[in-house]
This record gives sequence, structure tokens and C-alpha cells, in this order.
Amino acid sequence: MTDVAILDTPANWPAILLPRAAGGKASAPAGVAASAPAGGPPAFDGLRKAIRDLGPTATIAAIGASGLRGRGGAGYPAADKWRAAAGTAAKGRVVVANGYGADPASATDQVLMERNPFAVIEGLAIAAFAIGAEEAIIAVRTEAASTIRILEAALAAASKAGFVGPDVQGSGRRLEITIRTVQGAYLLGEETILLKALEGKRGQPEQRPPHPATRGLRGLPTVVHNVQTLAAVPWILVHGPEAFAKIGASDSPGTMLVQVRGPERSGVAEVPLGTPLRQVAALAGSVGAGRNVKAVLVGGPSGGILPPSALDTPYAFGPLRAAGAHIGSGSVIVADDRACIVDLARVLTRYCADEACGKSIPCRIGTRRLSEIGDRIAAGTSRAGDLDLLTDLAADIVGSALCDHERLATLPLVSGMRYFRAELDEHLERGSCPAGVCHPMAMAASATH
Ligand SMILES: Cc1cc2nc3c(=O)[nH]c(=O)nc-3n(C[C@H](O)[C@H](O)[C@H](O)COP(=O)(O)O)c2cc1C
Ligand code: SF4
Repeated sequence: MTDVAILDTPANWPAILLPRAAGGKASAPAGVAASAPAGGPPAFDGLRKAIRDLGPTATIAAIGASGLRGRGGAGYPAADKWRAAAGTAAKGRVVVANGYGADPASATDQVLMERNPFAVIEGLAIAAFAIGAEEAIIAVRTEAASTIRILEAALAAASKAGFVGPDVQGSGRRLEITIRTVQGAYLLGEETILLKALEGKRGQPEQRPPHPATRGLRGLPTVVHNVQTLAAVPWILVHGPEAFAKIGASDSPGTMLVQVRGPERSGVAEVPLGTPLRQVAALAGSVGAGRNVKAVLVGGPSGGILPPSALDTPYAFGPLRAAGAHIGSGSVIVADDRACIVDLARVLTRYCADEACGKSIPCRIGTRRLSEIGDRIAAGTSRAGDLDLLTDLAADIVGSALCDHERLATLPLVSGMRYFRAELDEHLERGSCPAGVCHPMAMAASATH
């Protein structure tokens, strides 16, 4: 089982994705009935409600009224995808649960699939019922052996109880769910690459439109959702869309699993969206006596590096983007004053450049050039005009490529320039690294002391 700590959160924070009783160890579920959290509704009550009381159109309307936005990073309204897929004439439709978890430093999706697998399966079944899909796929990393084992056990139990199979709960609707393993690099989490991988093809993003919701897997309308998006769906139907809309921020209702890392502790926590970043970062504990928080990296490898002055930013889609970061993989990493922002931005940009698939030239060449400039600044070998070049490049490559990786890859350097200009200038103008991290400047500085 994934050995990830579930962090304690305030008792009044809602538990939608990880019932508090599931906070302990993950284990293969014994059966659907045995999975009901203490005091909570039994698993699959949301699906029963969709089939018996709502029907497909009202189910989609309920998801729309809840304000649920995709947890895969971009925050696209879930119901819009469902409407697009349901409204596209086709011989079949598909729902895909994206459980790839591209960010190697974030285990949120794996934790969810291992501790609340029925919520993911039920969310898939509801989405399939709503859009008229008979085929659904849970895509997981090949190496996530424990997750696969738990999902297989949960799927077998759900099939045995009649929530998946030839006639779902007597509705006359068929649903086949398969667990598919995929293996690849960071970009494989991007939906069009994931769909290609599921077709057994080499993965590179596709031009959109058409979006997968109208033309996806094997040309069929395909709703792709992060596993957290799907896991919120049963709760919405059981408790009502209004109850969900009241949780979190008005532009980002609900909760999200956040992977918090700090000098004292790290783990996964379920956080109501809209919670001030300060409170989210505090889940990682304190930075220790005599130390200060220097920066918080929000969103994963292509995240924004935010200063302490941005800690009041609500952890929600719009505010984080305005601050120069994004929700991304749900990763929040606290760095203390021993960190060098130039070094951090440089390492992240290098990672993003290495992971760019290379299909679009502005991204392939642009991220590589950004990475080289970052390397030069950190090595004390920057050239005149490097800062202007960096600014122009970051602005020019955005919006000209096939997937969002290109824009996101600029965030570490752009946010670093925006918030930590004095530290950058120290590197550029004096050739010194105040944190003593960058080499050879760190070595040169220590030699003069
Ligand atoms: C470089 C890159 C990596 C991505 N990795 C993931 C991932 O690991 N998991 C995920 O759910 N979405 C990932 N996405 C977003 C997906 O493309 C897609 O928007 C998402 O799965 C849709 O689900 P949602 O509607 O629940 O947000 C990634 C996007 C990009 C550009
Ligand atoms: S933007 Fe970058 S990662 Fe995305 S398709 Fe183009 S080259 Fe590949």
C-alpha cells in the first residue's frame, strides 16, 4: 500500500473525498456493504439516485448546479464536458478516469484510489449513465501495484453487487469498467496523450478542437476526468448540488486532495478550496526555530513559486492563477530561507524542458532556451540581455502550442522573476547567491570569507 501520511485537518473541514474513517491504512475492500463509512451513506447511493430518481438529463443538471470543476489542473466545468459528450451523436461513448498522477512528488490520486476506490468507480458509473456510455476505463500507472490490486478488488465487489455489468441496477443499461495500466513520462497525464496510450499508440498531444468530449478514444465522445473529480460526484448526488456549492470558494466549490511538503512533515490532506494558502502550507508544520518561510511552490514541477506575501491567496483555481501559480497536481511545497529561488526555478524549468514532448517547436525550443538561461544565471555566466530574453521568450511561447505544458513550464521562472527580483539581481549583477546554493558562485563566495 502507498505509504503516505494523511495529515490531520481541522474537524470542521468537510470530508468528501476521503471519509475520515478512511484516514488509516488502505486495504482492499471486503465488499460494497462493508465499505460504508460510519454514519455516512452506503456506497453507490448516488448511482441509485441517478438511475431511480433523476435520469441522465437531471443528473447532468445537478452536476452543473454543484459548480464541480475538474481537479486535473485546468478546472474546466465538469457538466460542460458531460453535455458535450451526451449531445454528440455517436455509436458509443466512453468515460476515462485519469489516475495517472503525473507529478512524481504528489500521491494524492493514488491515496484516493486506495482509500476510497468505490467513490471513483461510482463516479465513473454515474458519469457513464448520464452521458450514455457503456464503456469506462480507469487509467493507472503500471508501477502502482497496490492501487491496481485495490481497484481490482473494488471493481469485482461492485460488479458482484450489480453496480457494474450487463444491467446496472435493473436500469437496462450496460456498463463495462476496465482498469488499464499505462507507463510513460510526465506528459502522459495530459488527456490527449493518455487517450493515445490507451489506443496503444505513441503519445503526443493532439490539436483541439475537437476536444475529447466530442471526439476522443477511437473517435468516440470521451469524458476524461481526474479521479478526484469523479469521486466528488456521488457525494453531490447524495447530499445535493446546493450543499456542495456551499463548500469551498464560490468559483471553486468543494474540496481537493493536496500533497503538502515541508521541513517538518509531509502528507496528503483534504482541503476545502478557497482555504488561504497560509493554512494549507501550515499543514506541513513549522519551518523550525530561527528559520523563515521563504517560498511556497504551488502546482507541481510546472508550478509557481510564491513569496510569503502571497500566503493569503485562496487555494482555488482563479486566485492561484492570478498569483502566477496553478492548482496543477495539488502539490504545495514549503521552502525555508535556505532555498535559492534561482536554483529552484532553474531545476524546475530544466525538468519541464526535458519532459516537453517536442511536437510543437515553440515549446520544444522555447523551454530549452529558458532552461539554458536559468542555468547561466545560476552558474554566474549570464549574458547581457538574458533577463529581457527570458521575459520575451516566456511571453512569446505561451499560447502557440498544442497543450498547456508550454505555458505552465514558464511559471517557475516567471513567478521567480516577479516575486524574487532582488535575489535574481544579486545573481545577475553581483554574481553572488545569497542562499549560498548556486555553484560556482557559492564556492567563490566561500573562498573569499
Ligand atoms: C503536462 C500535463 C500533465 C497532466 N497530467 C495530468 C495528470 O497526471 N492527471 C490528471 O488528471 N490530469 C492531468 N492533466 C490534465 C489533463 O490533460 C485533463 O485536463 C484532465 O485529466 C481532465 O480532468 P478534469 O476534468 O477532472 O480536470 C495534465 C495536463 C498537462 C498539460
Ligand atoms: S506544448 Fe510542448 S509538451 Fe505540449 S505538445 Fe507541444 S511540445 Fe509537446
